[in-house]
Amino acid sequence: MSDALFQNLSSTFESLYYSKHEFESFAPGRANIIGEHTDYNDGFVFPFAIGQGIWFLASKNQSAHISVYSYNESNQAQFSLAGETASFAGWPRFISQVLKHLNPTITQGINIVFGGDVPIGGGVSSSSALTCGMIDIIGQTNELQLLPEKMVELAVRAEHGTGVIGGIMDQFTIINGVNNHAMLLDCRDQSTQLIKLPESNCHFYLVNTGVKHNLVETDYNLRRQQCNQALEICQNGGYAFKSLRDISLDELDNLQLILPEPLYRRVRHVVSENERVMRTVACLHNHDLKSLGILLHGSHDSLRVDYEVSCDELDWQVDYAKSADFNYGSRMMGGGFGGCTIHLTKSTWSEAYCLQWQKDYMETFGIDCQIIEIRPSDGILKRKRISSK
Ligand code: GLA
Repeated sequence: MSDALFQNLSSTFESLYYSKHEFESFAPGRANIIGEHTDYNDGFVFPFAIGQGIWFLASKNQSAHISVYSYNESNQAQFSLAGETASFAGWPRFISQVLKHLNPTITQGINIVFGGDVPIGGGVSSSSALTCGMIDIIGQTNELQLLPEKMVELAVRAEHGTGVIGGIMDQFTIINGVNNHAMLLDCRDQSTQLIKLPESNCHFYLVNTGVKHNLVETDYNLRRQQCNQALEICQNGGYAFKSLRDISLDELDNLQLILPEPLYRRVRHVVSENERVMRTVACLHNHDLKSLGILLHGSHDSLRVDYEVSCDELDWQVDYAKSADFNYGSRMMGGGFGGCTIHLTKSTWSEAYCLQWQKDYMETFGIDCQIIEIRPSDGILKRKRISSK
């Protein structure tokens, strides 16, 4: 995040509210190396927080309102501390859900400006960054002393209130991310193992498909339902699984006898993806990025064929990256149905390579695609903030 952007946010705050901000928070976006659609099945994920994100600047006010201004969208919304009855669309919807879940603990009126450089709807969980950052800044101004696990829980519940019944990966990573590390997160008990990423010959890029990513309008919730349905069939068939995470690769053949399509393929994705996450961590321990790249391709194929959450633009990008020998591996990232692809590469991408990519993508789909390099960065809790006056 550039200093210039922060300065703009800060002067916007001053001209809107006639005072300097007293509190600040930075909520990063999140990337995920591997482990997709496993979090809500109690499985494993391997994400990191990225450098791009959203800044929140705030100060207390003497009113019974929380005024929030979006720098990127140049619009403002006001929320009553007494509890919100109005219904909101767009970004204010996330904030009204946060307030709903924090009430009645909030008594302090607040002025807020937020803005950032995280691509919106680009598969890096901009909505979770908004939700988590809002919880943090409201927590600071109201001295709520929220514990990290409470923040994650609140953020997940607030986002469920907007219609997507997601898992915990995004919120957990945005809050707990650690610089230079990816996090092996066990979504069953929320235990983590931090894995340092190699300092050289290891770069990550995101390429946005430019296809608008709105999980509410997609089959995300349906996938989750299908997983629950498959689990129920297994349990009724005498298996003692508590979640799909408990199924081993060896058991898949037997399950094929009782699970109808597409449920069997959904389960096969979850089980094989959990396995790929563990193998990815082993590859990093062995400094074997080549094999890690093969796992990324395996993850993409499984998401495309078995889980059916990919789309033509995502598939095209993964194939396109395969032709460059400096790229280890690629896959779609996040919920799917658009969003972005993640690429692990030996060297940085030259400007010429990026331009050629963008030109070829434009010729194929008529869409501009944004390419950004990402690095594992600190989450909300590790960032330095100014303290209240
Ligand atoms: C979205 C959800 C996450 C996770 C991913 C898929 O980003 O918010 O909880 O399920 O999709 O891995």
